Amino acid sequence: MERGHDIVLFGATGYTGALTAEYLATNAPRELRWALAGRDRDKLEAVRAELAEIDPDRPLPEILLADADDAPSIRNLAASARVVITTVGPYSEYGEPLVAACAAEGTDYVDLCGESAFVDRMYVRHHETAVRTGARLVHACGFDSIPHDLGALFTVEQLPEGVPLHVEGFVRAQGNVSGGTLHSAVGVLSDTAGTRAAARERRALEGEPEGRRVRVDSRGRPRTRLARGWTVPLPTLDPQVVVRSAAALERYGPDFSYGHYAAFRKLSSAVGTVGGMAGVMAAAQVPPLRERLLSLRPPGAGPTEEQLANGWFTVHFAGSGGGRRVHTRVSGGEPGYGATSGMLAESALCLWQDDLPPTSGQVTTAVAMGEALIRRLPRAGVDFEVLRTVED
Ligand SMILES: NC(=O)c1ccc[n+]([C@@H]2O[C@H](COP(=O)([O-])OP(=O)(O)OC[C@H]3O[C@@H](n4cnc5c(N)ncnc54)[C@H](OP(=O)(O)O)[C@@H]3O)[C@@H](O)[C@H]2O)c1
Repeated sequence: MERGHDIVLFGATGYTGALTAEYLATNAPRELRWALAGRDRDKLEAVRAELAEIDPDRPLPEILLADADDAPSIRNLAASARVVITTVGPYSEYGEPLVAACAAEGTDYVDLCGESAFVDRMYVRHHETAVRTGARLVHACGFDSIPHDLGALFTVEQLPEGVPLHVEGFVRAQGNVSGGTLHSAVGVLSDTAGTRAAARERRALEGEPEGRRVRVDSRGRPRTRLARGWTVPLPTLDPQVVVRSAAALERYGPDFSYGHYAAFRKLSSAVGTVGGMAGVMAAAQVPPLRERLLSLRPPGAGPTEEQLANGWFTVHFAGSGGGRRVHTRVSGGEPGYGATSGMLAESALCLWQDDLPPTSGQVTTAVAMGEALIRRLPRAGVDFEVLRTVED
């Protein structure tokens, strides 16, 4: 189908959106026909002016005005693109009109959503439409959940086929939080009942894979030599995404389980982080404390250049099954924004350009792009390695 743009980036004036624009202006093929979208023309012009300085010979993106609160402008955006990237969040607040429009228009869609209730609601409301139109709706194309989803896939690919498999992921990271992420996280923590209700509604509709078993099992170990540290189960969107990939792909075998953990060198850091999270969770329930929390970082603000340069992440995976054990690692630069903007942009480029298995509807990164995206990610500084294989 002929569309005016290959890729439209919605939210280009925000903290992560501007980094994603910079990544595309530096790394995308020159023939890419793309646009920066947002609600404020002056701000969009300012972002475009900065891109012009990266490479004066490269064609600049067009500008497209669209507001999440103005449905026709969102429909127009979705109809004009082959792939839409959106960094307009919190997604629970602003995201649904664009998901609905992309599903209706058959437009591929990628976002940075780590809000599981939003992902579940979008599945319930728009998956079927997207299956009909052929749109691929891929949430969580940043640090949530690419290293974990594709790292688990990469680990599974090192193990025998057709046998029960267990994989564990151990995450260590150094990074900071933007205003958009803080507002999204506090939104999630203040509505745990809504999150549970959305998950129930999805389960009732989605069912289990036929003749196979997949599940999250984070009962694992308090300590791991693999990631050299103490571990704490990490109940983010990531393990849900990993088991959704396992449910969709036969390669994960007849009985697949996944455990997801944060790893800390020192026990005191593990205890401090758990205590800190409990404090944030408690504060998110009380409106005046929630407002205080949100005021710590306003929308648009994010890590400094120095913080971006010093950030890093590693995810160690232990996989076992069929008489083999493997140790793999996914690693990269500053997780939340540096590596994330590259992962998001490469996901969109992958959907636009690569020869991929035919999929549609709400799909994970492993299902929609899998190997093709793993091959692309070293360009964004995200590497996949096999560190050890042992035959039992
Ligand atoms: N999971 C991950 O790995 C990960 C990593 C990074 C970010 N994120 C998520 O990405 C999202 C963005 O984060 P951020 O820090 O980049 O946020 P941000 O700097 O606050 O940017 C938000 C963007 O949304 C735009 N926007 C807000 N309301 C709008 C509306 N009604 N219509 C059109 N545009 C609107 C803003 O435009 P204006 O400039 O006009 O205000 C801005 O461009 C958050 O949900 C965050 O949680 C996730």
